[in-house]
Amino acid sequence: MILDKKIYTLLNDQITKEYYSAYLYLQIAAYYDEHGLDGYASWYEKQAHEEEEHAMKIYRYLHENGQEVKLGQIDAPNVTFNDFLEPVKAALAHEEYITGCINDLMTAAKGVHDYRTMEFLQWFVHEQGEEEVNANRMVKLMETFGGKKLGLFVLNEKVKERQ
Ligand code: FEO
Repeated sequence: MILDKKIYTLLNDQITKEYYSAYLYLQIAAYYDEHGLDGYASWYEKQAHEEEEHAMKIYRYLHENGQEVKLGQIDAPNVTFNDFLEPVKAALAHEEYITGCINDLMTAAKGVHDYRTMEFLQWFVHEQGEEEVNANRMVKLMETFGGKKLGLFVLNEKVKERQ
């Protein structure tokens, strides 16, 4: 199937956005690793791998539908962190942004009656819901317990258990 040009462009661009997400999470992982929070570091390394998988899902979908993949430039994550709360907040804000991108894609697919792409995107709609729940939880936990050293230690261990 030849995709509508707008749908094609949005999907192709989404590959870059998913890789940017991976890059952002790796930067967050590095920050936590450099501050001794190995549980948080491995959690965000895992998120980075998941984002690469998201990109590859779209890459394969384009090929399966006879489309060229044109990889875009991945920007460096434009973030600096001053405390342990800022990275989890940045992750939540980013997931909300990505949800918006997926919604825009779904709206565009609906507009041209591209039911196949709508079905394909449904997985991402569900995934974004889960990721926002997780990201929100990371913010709430850090806000509540992260200000105390013992609280931070326990949180770091808990995050390890959840992987
Ligand atoms: Fe694949 Fe969390 O955006």
